[in-house]
Amino acid sequence: MKKLNVGIIGYGFMGRTHSNAYCMVNHFFNVAYKPQLQVICGLEDNVAKAFAEQWGYKSHTTDWHKVIEDDSIDIVDICVPNNVHAEIAIAAAKAGKMIICEKPLALNGEEAKTMTEAVEKAQVANLVSFNYRRVPAVTLAKMLIDEGRLGRIFHYRANFLQDWTISEQVPQGGVGTWRLDVKAAGSGVTGDLLAHCIDTAMWQNGRIKSVCAMTETFIKERKHVETGKVEPVGIDDACTFMCRFDNGSLGNFESTRYARGHKALYTFEINGEHASLAWDLHDLHRLSYFDHADESIVRGWRSIHVTDSDMPYMDKWWVPGLQIGYEHTFVHQIADFLDGLEKGEPARPTFREALATQYVCDAVLSSAKTNTWQNIQNPV
Ligand SMILES: NC(=O)c1ccc[n+]([C@@H]2O[C@H](COP(=O)([O-])OP(=O)(O)OC[C@H]3O[C@@H](n4cnc5c(N)ncnc54)[C@H](O)[C@@H]3O)[C@@H](O)[C@H]2O)c1
Repeated sequence: MKKLNVGIIGYGFMGRTHSNAYCMVNHFFNVAYKPQLQVICGLEDNVAKAFAEQWGYKSHTTDWHKVIEDDSIDIVDICVPNNVHAEIAIAAAKAGKMIICEKPLALNGEEAKTMTEAVEKAQVANLVSFNYRRVPAVTLAKMLIDEGRLGRIFHYRANFLQDWTISEQVPQGGVGTWRLDVKAAGSGVTGDLLAHCIDTAMWQNGRIKSVCAMTETFIKERKHVETGKVEPVGIDDACTFMCRFDNGSLGNFESTRYARGHKALYTFEINGEHASLAWDLHDLHRLSYFDHADESIVRGWRSIHVTDSDMPYMDKWWVPGLQIGYEHTFVHQIADFLDGLEKGEPARPTFREALATQYVCDAVLSSAKTNTWQNIQNPV
């Protein structure tokens, strides 16, 4: 197996999921490459040092430029807040590194386009971490759609509901709450949560061509951790949009951090001519399926337990009946990335595909601002 040295920038939530994935991948997937945890980078030296020791990194740093300048690094993995993605990705592309970047790709479409052009010019392997595509039940949904089991698709609806910012005491900016600071995040729930729903939806149901949205910022001012001052909040706390897909189907999407009782309720439902599908992140190993072709006396929604070895990714794990979880989606992502290198077929979504999602996010925000329908720019 050929060794690939990995430098991860960001040791937070995603730094942990990605580190875990690199550690696990060769134990479960037969891939031609073996990732090595080489360097971890983050803002605080003592935290980076402890992280390096815990996960087995050879070194640590607080300066991401050192990761890029290090000739031994093959893959730069970007797990930092959204406002730092572009600078790192463009520098990494110029240095000829392969790049895995967390979602959303950038603060906005313009920045994402520059990043896409940089990786394409440098011809480096690139992948954006829309990991929900790699939940086996979500991948199975895509397979069933591609097999034509749903027939013509009429409706796609998705929600991503949370409740962690309802208190006015939650600050904006800084470690842990950078998502509430528009300068660090680019947007609120649109880029953070709906980007996932949009990526999955376009992967399963094709391009979104136009959107009509509304957003709200329920708490208008919050203390900023870095300045210590109460400042206006620039992010969308909630966003609802309807859309038209290229295939003629209608979409409804909603996301909020003000849905009391919901921590991370990502759900989607797809209604077709012959069948419907539904999925729920809180029960991620199950796919609900309704097939109108069933005999009427037994017709109804069935709950498919996605654990059999003929289901996506499941032959690599345990035995039928035993489920896997959230962290495995990142293992699948790295396995697919390494497999793509071997086959010369890039794992998806590439930066260019994630640019399409970024354009939808931009159009959603612009629609909400102008109270108008917006057509989506085509990235290809
Ligand atoms: N795929 C998913 O489901 C998913 C889930 C959560 C977060 N994300 C994305 O992952 C990225 C990181 O989110 P997170 O939740 O891990 O954040 P986090 O706050 O937990 O961690 C951010 C890390 O970035 C480091 N950092 C910040 N600025 C830096 C700089 N200039 N140089 C070096 N290090 C820097 C911090 O030290 C910290 O280690 C974001 O883009 C976010 O949208 C994706």
